[in-house]
Amino acid sequence: MLPGGSLTTAVVLAAGEGTRMHSAIPKVLHPLAGRPLVEHAVRAAAGLAPEHLVVVIGHGRDAVEVHLRTVAAALGREVRAAVQAQRRGTGDAVRVALEVLPVGLSGTVLVSCGDVPLLDTGTLAGLIAEHHRAGHTVTTLTAMVEDPTGYGRVLRDRSGGVTGIVEHRDATAAQRAIHEINSGVFAFDAEVLRDALGRLGPSNSQGELYLTDVLGVVRASGLSVGAHPCPDPWLVAGVNDRVQLAAVGAECNRRLLEHWMRAGVTVVDPASVWLDVEVQLAPDVVLHPGVQLLAGTTVGPGAAIGPDSTLSGCTVGAGATVVRTHALGAVVAEGAQIGPFAYLRPGSRVGERAKVGTFVETKNAQLGPGAKVPHLSYVGDATIGAGSNIGAATVFVNYDGVTKHHTTVGAHTRTGADNMFVAPVAIGDGAYTAAGSVITQDVPPGALAVARGRQRNIEGWVARRRPGTPAAHAAAQAQQTDGAQPRQERA
Ligand code: UD1
Ligand code: CA
Repeated sequence: MLPGGSLTTAVVLAAGEGTRMHSAIPKVLHPLAGRPLVEHAVRAAAGLAPEHLVVVIGHGRDAVEVHLRTVAAALGREVRAAVQAQRRGTGDAVRVALEVLPVGLSGTVLVSCGDVPLLDTGTLAGLIAEHHRAGHTVTTLTAMVEDPTGYGRVLRDRSGGVTGIVEHRDATAAQRAIHEINSGVFAFDAEVLRDALGRLGPSNSQGELYLTDVLGVVRASGLSVGAHPCPDPWLVAGVNDRVQLAAVGAECNRRLLEHWMRAGVTVVDPASVWLDVEVQLAPDVVLHPGVQLLAGTTVGPGAAIGPDSTLSGCTVGAGATVVRTHALGAVVAEGAQIGPFAYLRPGSRVGERAKVGTFVETKNAQLGPGAKVPHLSYVGDATIGAGSNIGAATVFVNYDGVTKHHTTVGAHTRTGADNMFVAPVAIGDGAYTAAGSVITQDVPPGALAVARGRQRNIEGWVARRRPGTPAAHAAAQAQQTDGAQPRQERA
């Protein structure tokens, strides 16, 4: 239980269309640091362990509801959706939430907004604690901001007591000069809230039922209303358009980077590195310029990532290096080397001290410890044993046009440059393959496989068929000076 008494209910408002986003995607599903806006708000509220957690949905509700189910599963708790059929304002949205809650609900109700992503559980707990300590029936979380445009302003009487909130559009010039804004986050006494919602009217510029009007209504009935200032205005910053989305996203990133730098991560150029919330970094990780580490990525001690790399859902082991690489769902073991210019796709597992080099793409591919695919290759649906070296420009031919097939390469093999492994096929331990081979049959351990046309040289062909060309002159000159012999075919 958090300090300040019990919290029965948390309500997150997320039904609005977000017209200012000009988007086909509901505003609250726009991502910030790898999570939809609404998920940030729901997780912050869930951190208070309320008995009931309700999200009011409406615009794009099917998509929002699907996401809420994944959040509920991740949190291991119930997250209820209440549908606001018509967007009649934030006051109406809270009324809809109360309808799915037990009749006669009592205790404290927290209301927060699905478009305020940086608000954390600690700040919400502080609001609840202050609400209980001061014995108010309504407490609003406020902040002093430099540019209050668009926000509701907090109205106070001469003695500093909160008398109400006026929306920007409805405010007079004098009220617009107020820099204390309403964050849209409140603690309410449940009974007082229910009663006040019933008394709201749509007498404002938008013709909506404003939750913010509850303060004036409650205050007018003689009950106590308070404000709890949040000293950090970023925490209450709302996202209404894409300019704010970018600004709040950049601030979130700055904070994440600061957190990891203080925990022992070197970030060479914080301005060009982007982290999602769900990233874990060990001490002595080095992030070079131009790195994006996206959700589900974990990097072990001393590993170096970048420059210019994007990793999503990847695990990178201690001391590994990942240079100019795009990697999705890959596991890179300790001391492995990736890139420059590698593309690791889902199911790639690169063993300890193994190497995936330049212009190499891997997918559903396991490389054993010390195995190497250094240059210009595609490794799809393959297992490569420990210590094997795959020649440059090799293609694991995994797709017959209908089905994907697997290639198994044993340990300590040496395969030639420009090979095709036509799956399903297996190369035994310690085997070699000749350069330019198209391997369609299994190769026994220790064998050399040669699968290419035998070379034949047609002497004098250029002189006969391409006379007078630079090639013919060059050949004639070479034959005069050293009477060059055709090279013997190898192997
Ligand atoms: C609101 C507040 C404003 C405050 C600001 C803080 C009101 C009337 N205004 O303004 O005082 O400074 O937040 O960010 O409350 N929503 C619904 N149903 C509706 C309307 C809105 O669920 O019918 C949801 C939205 O999805 C959003 C939240 O409520 O998550 C706030 O709505 P929005 O339209 O963004 O209000 P603001 O204009 O930002
Ligand atoms: Ca808003």
